[in-house]
Amino acid sequence: MADATLLNQIKDFSNRADPYPLYARLRQTPVSRQNDVGPETESPKDEAQGVWVAASHDAILRLQNDPRISVETTPPTKRPSTGNPVTDYLVNPIKNRITDRHQPFLFRDPPAHDLLRAATVHQFTPTRVQAMRARSEKLVGEMLDRKLGSREIDVVADLAYPLPVAVICELFGVPEGDEASFHDWSSQLATAVEPGVVVSEETRIENARIFDAISDYLADLVAEKRRRPRNDLLSGLANHATPDGYRMGDLDLISTAILILVAGHETAVNLISNAWLTLMRHPDELERLRADPGRAPRVVEEVMRYDPPVQLVSRKTLSAIDIAGTTIPEGEALVLMLAAGNRDPAAFTDPDRFDPDRSGTRHLGFGGGLHYCVGAPLGRFEAEAALTALARRLQAPRLIEDPPPYRRPATLRGPECLRVAVERIL
Ligand code: HEM
Repeated sequence: MADATLLNQIKDFSNRADPYPLYARLRQTPVSRQNDVGPETESPKDEAQGVWVAASHDAILRLQNDPRISVETTPPTKRPSTGNPVTDYLVNPIKNRITDRHQPFLFRDPPAHDLLRAATVHQFTPTRVQAMRARSEKLVGEMLDRKLGSREIDVVADLAYPLPVAVICELFGVPEGDEASFHDWSSQLATAVEPGVVVSEETRIENARIFDAISDYLADLVAEKRRRPRNDLLSGLANHATPDGYRMGDLDLISTAILILVAGHETAVNLISNAWLTLMRHPDELERLRADPGRAPRVVEEVMRYDPPVQLVSRKTLSAIDIAGTTIPEGEALVLMLAAGNRDPAAFTDPDRFDPDRSGTRHLGFGGGLHYCVGAPLGRFEAEAALTALARRLQAPRLIEDPPPYRRPATLRGPECLRVAVERIL
C-alpha cells in the first residue's frame, strides 16, 4: 500500500481549503490502493475498506475511456448505508415511484446510458444552449442590481447559488409562479444528495420526502409539457424522439430531470465561487479580465483545471485492468482523482501556477469518456457571465476571509460563503 492514509486525509474536512499538496503526494504513485474509512457518517464509522485511486493525468485518461470500468452501484444490503443518495432513495423509497431500472444515466452503463444520454443531448440544441448565454447575463445583472448600495456581497449566496437554478428553471420551462418552490427544492435536494455522507434513518426518510416532493412536481410538469408542449428542453424530451426513434418514458424523464438539476446546480455554484476566489487571489488576472471581458473563457477554462468543482469521480472495475505497472482486480472500487490529474507536471508545465493563457493538454474537470459532462457549454456560459459582471461592477473588492469557510464534501468542493467587501457596486 503506497500510503494508507492519504485518501482519508483528503477526505478530512480540516484539509478542505487546500488539498493540493496531498494530491501531489498521491500522484507519486499514479495508481495506488488506499485504505478508506468510508464516507463521513452521522454515526460511528464502519470498518475501513480498500479502494484504488488513480491520480496521474495519464492513468485517469486511460481509465475513464476503458470499457472495463462501470458506474453502476450495487444496491446496499443493509440500511442505513450507501454513499449514493440516489441509490438510497431508489432502494428505500417512501413511494415506489422510481425503481432501480430508472437510475439517472450518470449511474448507468451502456446500453441504457447511451440511449438516455443521446435523447438528452439531442435536446441540448445549440440554439437552446446559446439562448442561455444571454439569459445568464441578464440574470446576473438583476442579481447584482439587488445589491446596489451595499458595501458587502456574498458571492455564493447572492449570485453563484441562485444563478444555476434560475437557468435550469428556464431550461425546463418552470412556470414563473413555481420558481420560488423550485429554488427551495433544489437547495434541499443539494443537501440530500451531498456525496460521501452516510446518514441516519431519520435523515434518510427526510431526504426521501424531498425526492418525493420534487419528483411529484416534475411528474406534473412533464404531464403538462405533453399536453401543451412549449419551446423548452423538458417539452422536447417529453415529446420528441431521437433520430433513432427512441423516446423516454415518464420515469426516465423524471430521473433525467432530477439528474440535470443536481448535476447542473452545485457544480456551477462551485465553479463560479472557486473562480472568483482564484481571481481575488490573483489581482493582476482580475484586472486583465476587467479590462478585457473577452478573456473570460480562458479564465473559466483555467479554473476548471486549477481548482475544479468536481474533484473526483467513483467507478468500479468489471474485470482486471493492468495499468501503471499494477493490476486492479475485478470488482474493485476505483476513484479517479480529477483534481490531482489536473496538476500533474507530466501533463501541464508549472501546474500549480494559475495561468489562463496556457494551451495544450486538456483538463479533466468535466470528466471524460462516456460520461463527459452534458452541460459543459452551459456551465461555462454561466461562469463567464458571473465573472465578467463581478469584475466590472465590484469596485475595489476585498476578500473578508481567506481561506473562506468550505462546504463539507470533498467531492463537490467549494466555499460555503465568499464574503467580499466593496467600495461600491456599480
Ligand atoms: C456529468 C462536471 C455543469 C449536466 C459531469 C461529470 C463531471 C461534470 C465531472 C462526469 C461525472 C462522472 O464521470 O462521474 C460539471 C462541472 C460543471 C457542470 C464542473 C460546472 C459548471 C453541468 C450543467 C449541467 C450538467 C450546467 C446541466 C444543466 C451533466 C450531466 C452529466 C454530467 C447530465 C452526466 C453525463 C453522463 O453520465 O453521460 N459533469 N458539470 N453539468 N453533467 Fe456536468
